[in-house]
Amino acid sequence: MSHTLIAEKPEYADAIERVLSRAFGPGRYAKTSERVREAGAVLEHALTRIALNGEGEVVGVCRIWRVEAGEPVFFLGPLAVDPSEQSAGVGFALVRDAVAACRASGGAGVVLVGAERFFRPAGFTVVPAGRVSLPGPVDPARLLWVELRPGGLDKVHGELRAPKR
Ligand SMILES: CC(C)(COP(=O)(O)OP(=O)(O)OC[C@H]1O[C@@H](n2cnc3c(N)ncnc32)[C@H](O)[C@@H]1OP(=O)(O)O)[C@@H](O)C(=O)NCCC(=O)NCCS
Repeated sequence: MSHTLIAEKPEYADAIERVLSRAFGPGRYAKTSERVREAGAVLEHALTRIALNGEGEVVGVCRIWRVEAGEPVFFLGPLAVDPSEQSAGVGFALVRDAVAACRASGGAGVVLVGAERFFRPAGFTVVPAGRVSLPGPVDPARLLWVELRPGGLDKVHGELRAPKR
């Protein structure tokens, strides 16, 4: 089935919540990534991507947030695809498109918590030890980032926090 990727719009909020709860199940809000979002990260609707199926239903989401760790940087997540449409390339297409939007916006880099094996083809690598932390425990092997322009991540350092402006 063909999918269309578009930016997030307010009218899709309920449909996105349904996909997130079907994909993650209970325990979604216990993740440390949620603490970053609760701490005042700013949702970037224009950089977030949602996937619509042939019927125009939301079947996937890859949200992008504006945060800071010494320098402004983007935080990616949650990424989710409805279980009925997984393994068809939608998840990776959402990541690729959202990261491209971040790059086109002039951003410095994108940080996320996730499986390196899945995100590596989109350019993500493990954050060097001690460079970035979250307001809670994170497996360092799952803390990943990608640079969006040369030197973009050079000054990124410290805990991911709400952006100053
Ligand atoms: C992760 C997720 C978004 C991938 O969406 P998708 O549309 O199935 O992704 P794609 O079709 O582009 O790629 C699928 C491949 O990604 C890889 N993959 C999927 N989840 C993975 C994970 N947690 N770790 C490592 N690799 C993974 C597998 O190789 C998979 O191939 P397979 O289906 O043949 O086993 C989807 O499985 C999902 O919503 N999972 C539940 C929520 C979640 O874990 N989100 C990610 C948080 S970082």
